[in-house]
Amino acid sequence: MKDIKYKAFVVEECDGKFVQTMQTLSTDNLPSGDVLVRVHYSSINYKDALSATGNKGVTKSYPHTPGIDVAGVVEYSADNKFQQGDEVIVTGYDLGMNTAGGFGQYIRVPSEWVVKLPKGLTMKEAMIIGTAGFTAGISLLRLSQFVKPSDGKVVVTGATGGVGSVAISLLSKLGYQVVAVSGKESESEFLHKLGATEIISRVEFQTVDKRPMLSARYAGAIDTVGGSILENVLKALKPLGAVTTCGSVSSTQLNMTVFPFILRGISLIGISAQNYPTALREPLWKKMATDWKTNNLLELYTEISLTELRDTLENILAGKLKGRTIVNMLDC
Ligand SMILES: NC(=O)c1ccc[n+]([C@@H]2O[C@H](COP(=O)([O-])OP(=O)(O)OC[C@H]3O[C@@H](n4cnc5c(N)ncnc54)[C@H](OP(=O)(O)O)[C@@H]3O)[C@@H](O)[C@H]2O)c1
Repeated sequence: MKDIKYKAFVVEECDGKFVQTMQTLSTDNLPSGDVLVRVHYSSINYKDALSATGNKGVTKSYPHTPGIDVAGVVEYSADNKFQQGDEVIVTGYDLGMNTAGGFGQYIRVPSEWVVKLPKGLTMKEAMIIGTAGFTAGISLLRLSQFVKPSDGKVVVTGATGGVGSVAISLLSKLGYQVVAVSGKESESEFLHKLGATEIISRVEFQTVDKRPMLSARYAGAIDTVGGSILENVLKALKPLGAVTTCGSVSSTQLNMTVFPFILRGISLIGISAQNYPTALREPLWKKMATDWKTNNLLELYTEISLTELRDTLENILAGKLKGRTIVNMLDC
């Protein structure tokens, strides 16, 4: 195949420091794989900021191009499942971790990582959802096996974040009563617009109560932050309630007894979008494009270009982003 030059946001390790620059790279140097994709949009996820700042738990070696999300067009495919010109989505697996990711204008990946863009979604909408929104979708799929809208209130933590904002929007669409826990007092209107009926300040919710259980107030929760906030949600679940857990922006630790589990029969459900099986991805993307497509998808995103990436990645690490941020990769 003919070599193509393209722009990419590259992170290099220099004397223990991580330096981010825009570079011109060539497709000849992309990793092996059966599908070459011209990236139209990428999106910003918390993991991208970790990769871009030298977190070796995410990216082991540099130079590296982060970006765990891609919506783009197939340029070449050795697998006849895909044809040149197909619009596709690639999220998770090793993309943007140790495989050059979506902050470059081309990626080359194994065909098992690639999902055809479902009817009902544009490439831009697919990236507004992105890994964060897809994680909200997996969380809701799992939670709804335990908790129905008639069971009571469902809490969403990290409410203004990527996973949180899409989770509120989805839960509200499906008729759940949503309680948003947020550290951003100024974003009440945004959260109400997404469908939250009640907003609780994060500070109030994160104070640790030493009692093994609290009064049972919530039917379920989608937690994105972990730590004392997750602990408080679990202690305040009604009998047979359930919580999904996907993130640890607050803390990786959970310090509590087993009493709510063995006395109230509650469940804690782990979510991993990265290795969500390929066979389950297509049906969930289809769902997100049809019955789970929310009306306010276009209200929860900001669009940036590659040149604005550095500041945006700093903001996500500082917990300052609101909703979803997509990167227009044609605008470089
Ligand atoms: N397991 C998986 O498959 C999976 C997939 C995607 C994401 N994740 C993880 O899920 C988490 C959320 O991802 P995201 O994309 O939604 O990130 P995000 O957009 O940065 O949102 C996180 C939100 O958490 C809140 N927050 C920030 N700092 C906090 C702190 N110190 N204590 C408590 N809350 C804090 C903020 O919301 P408020 O200001 O509204 O409180 C922030 O907007 C991350 O840890 C990410 O790595 C996991």
